[in-house]
Amino acid sequence: MNLRGVVLAGGTGSRLMPLTKVTNKHLLPVGEKPMIYYPIEKLTSAGIEEVLIVTGVEHMGDVVGLLGSGKDFGCRFTYKVQDQAGGIAQALALAENFTAGHPMAVILGDNIFQAGLKDYAEKFATQEKGAMILLKQVPDPHRFGVAELADGKVVGIVEKPNKPKSNYAVTGIYFYDSQVFDIIRTLKPSARGELEITHVNQKYIDKRQMAYDIIEGWWTDAGTFESLGRANELVAKTPPE
Ligand code: DAU
Repeated sequence: MNLRGVVLAGGTGSRLMPLTKVTNKHLLPVGEKPMIYYPIEKLTSAGIEEVLIVTGVEHMGDVVGLLGSGKDFGCRFTYKVQDQAGGIAQALALAENFTAGHPMAVILGDNIFQAGLKDYAEKFATQEKGAMILLKQVPDPHRFGVAELADGKVVGIVEKPNKPKSNYAVTGIYFYDSQVFDIIRTLKPSARGELEITHVNQKYIDKRQMAYDIIEGWWTDAGTFESLGRANELVAKTPPE
């Protein structure tokens, strides 16, 4: 398959302290597996065989010790270190050599969801160029990037708005073509000092090259105590496909 897979598992996990004091958020348990297994298995079950894992320097050893070469997952892993938690777009920039011009499916390491990615990946493959994001209606959109929709298109995304314009959260599941790296090079750090993935997505919207779909089944992040608890409940009740 042409599509490369990227799992972003850096960041500080500060919202889960002290659980994350001596380990990486993505190694914490969700159901019967470490959290990071879920996004990896979504990529491999969509037929993706080359997967990049990005994480911070502090826990790279543990991440490699857990995941190994990829043999156990039916894929090949490449690993890259993000020196500081400078944002999701900064972490994604590390995928440029790995993807080598191929399009990519990117999943945030704390996103846990029910649906398989194959249909969405196939839909993206029919797109000549640009990006595709997956959205989900949520009761608490202010915690996420929020998409504004008009005439069947995403016309804007605002990161963690006080007054969300819709209840469609931008999930941490993104499909990009290789233009994404040129876009990231144009970004400036946000008020919180990070290169924001929302700014990347907004640039694709401005170029009229952003498609979207609504992900089926349940979806949650697992980056707070509340959402980590919810992820455990959802996985126990209806295991992901
Ligand atoms: O879960 C979806 C949301 O994820 C989106 O709706 C938002 O638009 C997006 O900004 C992001 O929001 P969060 O506040 O949840 O992002 P967080 O800082 O928790 O990072 C999410 C994951 O991204 C984290 O599990 C690992 C990865 N990450 C994050 C940062 C800041 C990195 O790999 N490196 C980083 O520097």
